[in-house]
Order: sequence, then structure tokens, then C-alpha cells
Amino acid sequence: MRPYVIISAAMSADGKISTKEHQQTKISGEQDFARVDRLRAECDAVMVGIGTILADDASLCLKNPGLIVSRAASGRDEQPMRIVIDSRARMQPDGDFFKKGTGKRVIFVSDAAPEDRIAVLREKAAVIPAGKDRVDLGQVLDLLGEIGVKKLMVEGGATLLWSFTSQRLFDEIRIYVGALIIGGVNAPTLVGGIGFTRDEGFIPLALKNVEKIDDGLLITWLNKRMELSV
Ligand SMILES: NC(=O)c1ccc[n+]([C@@H]2O[C@H](COP(=O)([O-])OP(=O)(O)OC[C@H]3O[C@@H](n4cnc5c(N)ncnc54)[C@H](OP(=O)(O)O)[C@@H]3O)[C@@H](O)[C@H]2O)c1
Repeated sequence: MRPYVIISAAMSADGKISTKEHQQTKISGEQDFARVDRLRAECDAVMVGIGTILADDASLCLKNPGLIVSRAASGRDEQPMRIVIDSRARMQPDGDFFKKGTGKRVIFVSDAAPEDRIAVLREKAAVIPAGKDRVDLGQVLDLLGEIGVKKLMVEGGATLLWSFTSQRLFDEIRIYVGALIIGGVNAPTLVGGIGFTRDEGFIPLALKNVEKIDDGLLITWLNKRMELSV
């Protein structure tokens, strides 16, 4: 069975997830960072696109040592499985994703990834082909389900979230809306991609919860399909 997919990200009041130079920026406060860390700890796996790894040098590791200890005490790996979607095996082998934390690291590539790049990454992570020219996310979810991943957190960025939302591959979206304006037409918004026309229709969401955290709001929506099936 495919995992339950939670999209989790932070955006500014004007919907931006980073700056016009695609630089990571602080959108949440301390309470919200702690919440995201707890959500990571609850999940079996966390995932980002290669754009996020290259822009942010993200490690995807838990920050709070207490969460690491309690995962280990319950017989799980200290860190959730960390996954990158990277069609052409562009991951840098000296990045924080490899340097920080313990546990399983998985890179999904496509058949278009050069063999020499795959060989370099295979020394540091499981490298799994899924898809011809681009990583096929449906195939990825099937494979993750087969290896026992039940709850998956997808953290971005904008391009990966377009694929997850437009292909309706998510169950829940948790967005923290921070109290700041970033601005800029070139700053990525929560969901990128080519977008829908009015005739094509949009992805309907069902509001589940709104909560004030720090100076912003955490909004949780369900995929409308999920709400109907509950
Ligand atoms: N505020 C937040 O919560 C938050 C969270 C995460 C990221 N961010 C920001 O988001 C920005 C990065 O976003 P991004 O859009 O450039 O990169 P991204 O979404 O992280 O990664 C996109 C890349 O993934 C690869 N990919 C492979 N298969 C794919 C598929 N089926 N669907 C979609 N992508 C696929 C593509 O490159 P290949 O084809 O070469 O593989 C694509 O260019 C950064 O500025 C980062 O700071 C913000």
C-alpha cells in the first residue's frame, strides 16, 4: 500500500517559499521549527527534490537530540529515511545530506542518470531507478509502500510539489504561513510547475485545521478526495 503523504512547508504571507535568488530564508519561529522536527520524527521517511538539496544543502536530519533518542528507544532508526528525487543523479557527494545524521538515505533517479554519477552516489546511499526521463512519483510511492514506509513527509520545493499536487499524490497539506512578505515574481511560491487553466480545473482542498503558532498560522488541508473517503 502506498504511504500516507503529508506535504509540509512554510511560506510567507505572500506565498513565497524562498527569495528571488532561491535562497532559503527563515519563515517560521522557534515553536514552528520544533513542530516540524516532531513531524519529521513521526514519519517513516522525509523527501525533497534535488532543487532543494542544491539550493539549501539540506540534510533533512532531526535537530532535537531528544527526538533522535526516543526514535531509537522505540526500535526505529535514529533518523527517518531521507529521500531525494534526482532524475539525473546531480546530488553532490560532499553535501550535508551525506555528512550529517545516521540512517537510510535513498536517491531516486531516472534511466537518464549517467552511470558514472550513479556509481559515485551508490557508495553513500541506495540509488533506485524509477522512471524513464524523469523520476516517476507513482512508481516511487509503490516502491516505498513495498519496503514498509507508511507515512511520508514531502517538504518541497515548488517543482516537486507541483508534481505531487497536480498528480493528486498527496493526502494532506500542512502549510505554515509566516508573518512576512518576501515578494518578487521570481521567488518560488509553494507550488510551481506550469499550473492549471480554469478549463482544466484546480485541485480542491478541504480545510481540516487552523492554529496560531509564533506570529503565523499553521493551516492543514486534506486532499478533497481524502475527505470524501473518510
Ligand atoms: N519554505 C519551505 O518550506 C521550503 C521547503 C523546501 C524547499 N524550499 C525552497 O524551494 C526551492 C527549491 O525548489 P525547486 O522547485 O527549485 O526544486 P525542487 O522542487 O526541490 O526539485 C525539483 C527538481 O526535482 C527533480 N525531479 C525529478 N523528478 C521529478 C518529478 N517527477 N517532479 C518534480 N521534480 C522532479 C527535477 O530535476 P531533475 O529532472 O534534474 O531531477 C526538478 O527540477 C529552494 O529555494 C528552497 O529553499 C522551501
